[in-house]
Amino acid sequence: MAARIREARPGDRDACYDICLRTGDSGADASGLYEDPSLLGDVYAGPYLAVSGGLGYVAEDGAGVAGYVLGAPDTRAFEAACEATWWPALRARHPDPGPVPRTPEERVRWLIHYPSTAADDVVARCPAHLHIDLLPRLQGTGAGRALMERILERFRAEGAPGVHLGVARSNAHAVGFYRHLGFTLLAEDEHSLTFGRGL
Ligand SMILES: CC(C)(COP(=O)(O)OP(=O)(O)OC[C@H]1O[C@@H](n2cnc3c(N)ncnc32)[C@H](O)[C@@H]1OP(=O)(O)O)[C@@H](O)C(=O)NCCC(=O)NCCS
Repeated sequence: MAARIREARPGDRDACYDICLRTGDSGADASGLYEDPSLLGDVYAGPYLAVSGGLGYVAEDGAGVAGYVLGAPDTRAFEAACEATWWPALRARHPDPGPVPRTPEERVRWLIHYPSTAADDVVARCPAHLHIDLLPRLQGTGAGRALMERILERFRAEGAPGVHLGVARSNAHAVGFYRHLGFTLLAEDEHSLTFGRGL
């Protein structure tokens, strides 16, 4: 059965958190890496379902929601809204792990205290951003393209001139997918790549 694409809503939280965890190790299952199964979702999925300026779409098949694309058309405004309404409660729950986070869990907790912000030159060209993840049963079925087309159309309608995203260097499959869909490299560091494309 082909997946149905629909707008994401707050009730998709548990499914999106589960997908986030099960694809959170450069596209592979990260559930063995985190004691707290909500941690990755709290950083990479939850804000888009709860904070003003976030939006997204999910792909649903007969067994339920199995993929999402989540993002924001105005990254700077969304970062400010998260700073005001999302991070404070999480900071109270998860202590700052200190200046040298060692485990994956500590690195994500560190991001709660020091959220990554997109570089000014990237945001100037590509003010929207997104995250896309599909469970293995939907990968390679066209659902990735369908989700991406829906959110790009939405960003265009919201007036964003471009969109960026981050991906781990080690995630060769996702890098191939993004390049195939017209994204080009905007910035890179030791661990990650930033891609973008005009809308
Ligand atoms: C990355 C991901 C979203 C891609 O979705 P997908 O299911 O492979 O994509 P689709 O089947 O919709 O493919 C869309 C198009 O991209 C192409 N494509 C997919 N992967 C490709 C690759 N590695 N290299 C070149 N082309 C690729 C397909 O051939 C298809 O082309 P077409 O539509 O022109 O025929 C999905 O595999 C996924 O969620 N992986 C796990 C989580 C993850 O890594 N997320 C990204 C984190 S940054």
